[in-house]
Amino acid sequence: MQYKFPENFWWGAATSGPQSEGRFNKAHRNIFDYWYDTDPDAFFDKVGPNVASNFYNSFREDIDLMKQVGLNSVRTAIQWSRLMKDFETGEVDADAVRFYNEVIDEFIAKGIRPVMNLVHFDIPVELLHQYGGWESKKVVDMFVIFARKCYELFGDRVKDWITFNEPMVIPEGGYLYKFHYPLKVDGKAAVQIVYNINLASAKAVQAYHEYRDKAGIKDGRIGIVINLTPAYPRSESPEDVAAAHFAEIFKNNAFLDPAVKGEFPAELVKILTDDGVIWESEPEELEIIRNNTVDYLGVNYYHPARAKARETELDESLGWLPDKHFEDYEWPEARINAHRGWEIYPKAIYDIAINVRDNYGNIPWYISENGMGVEGEAKFRNADGVIDDDYRIDFIKEHLEWLHKGIEEGANCFGYHLWTPIDCWSWMNAYKNRYGLIAVDDLATQKKTIKKSGVWFKSLSENNGF
Ligand code: BG6
Repeated sequence: MQYKFPENFWWGAATSGPQSEGRFNKAHRNIFDYWYDTDPDAFFDKVGPNVASNFYNSFREDIDLMKQVGLNSVRTAIQWSRLMKDFETGEVDADAVRFYNEVIDEFIAKGIRPVMNLVHFDIPVELLHQYGGWESKKVVDMFVIFARKCYELFGDRVKDWITFNEPMVIPEGGYLYKFHYPLKVDGKAAVQIVYNINLASAKAVQAYHEYRDKAGIKDGRIGIVINLTPAYPRSESPEDVAAAHFAEIFKNNAFLDPAVKGEFPAELVKILTDDGVIWESEPEELEIIRNNTVDYLGVNYYHPARAKARETELDESLGWLPDKHFEDYEWPEARINAHRGWEIYPKAIYDIAINVRDNYGNIPWYISENGMGVEGEAKFRNADGVIDDDYRIDFIKEHLEWLHKGIEEGANCFGYHLWTPIDCWSWMNAYKNRYGLIAVDDLATQKKTIKKSGVWFKSLSENNGF
């Protein structure tokens, strides 16, 4: 064996409630449910979240398939819009409690560690329409009501919690680049949301630590999942380096620093202040952020970011945008996953490992998402009905080689989760890009078949390496 990983390494995969469960028996709508109801054309092939991969109905069979591909841990997200009956009083929905209890118990019965996330972009739409969603600090406190309920209901069995998945996608998708509802372009709101989500995450960490101490739980912990996409400069010119540095501190460090170090990057605060868009904050809130850092980190990595100094004019009519300080750069030599259009650059995993080791106190972390999306994957189905995805196996191996090197050099990484166990619904892209170890062969029948990569992943997990 060439690459052996540390003992008890997590070999798992990640999904989320809104992307796998389907809307069956849901008490409320999240922003994607609402968006689909009002504009189905916005979604690839007009496929919405109604059925997703039917996890609500088939979770026992699905978890059995996850066991068959060797997963020892799985992350999913509890849907805020499913669990809560009343967002203000904290009353919960009885069927949702039953459902999540059964899911958690089934994972544990199958020897799979459940990692539970609280927000995967999916804020209940009422909280957006009534209060302004993450722009509002009232919603921050309503989120803490939901978080506390999750700990109280499931914290006796769930020992690994996550506050947010890829929090930066919330301002980017909904308030800058229009790929998530409410499809606004409002840089000032986006900046306030960055702050408010950091505050919400710190308050949820605080609430978990209080719950844990009171319940006498010794082995529970809470973290955050950040898409730590390194931003590489086009050239070593000071202008390109400065542009990439801004992209890095805005996209990554605006969440990473408060989560791990308890404070926002001073340079970012200065730039946003000079630009006149700095968030509204209170000293007591900054104190909460300072005192409630995460116990561990999840890192999602798919592809690098490349940046250059701006060459084109920004559309001033849109108001302030972070893009004022950088422009995306397409590296001509990039290796591209032609089935998704994303650059493949495995070395970034090593760069992330060294960054976390050297600049973030070597906090325990794991790869919480990595994966290869393939459009039209059905064309790779062989005569036996199995998706022959050697490209995915190669993709995983290459990333693991670099992760292994990072670990050998002292990175404190304890696991690797692939996106995703079973092909799942992916927001606007719906079922366009498939990522799973297990295929959903047909959306209508929801027949599921293990891919070649699923068989390989089992041997990877059993051998703790390859
Ligand atoms: C990740 C998200 O960044 O990308 C997932 O956390 C998402 O929720 C995944 O499904 C894949 O995205 P896409 O657009 O390629 O389907």
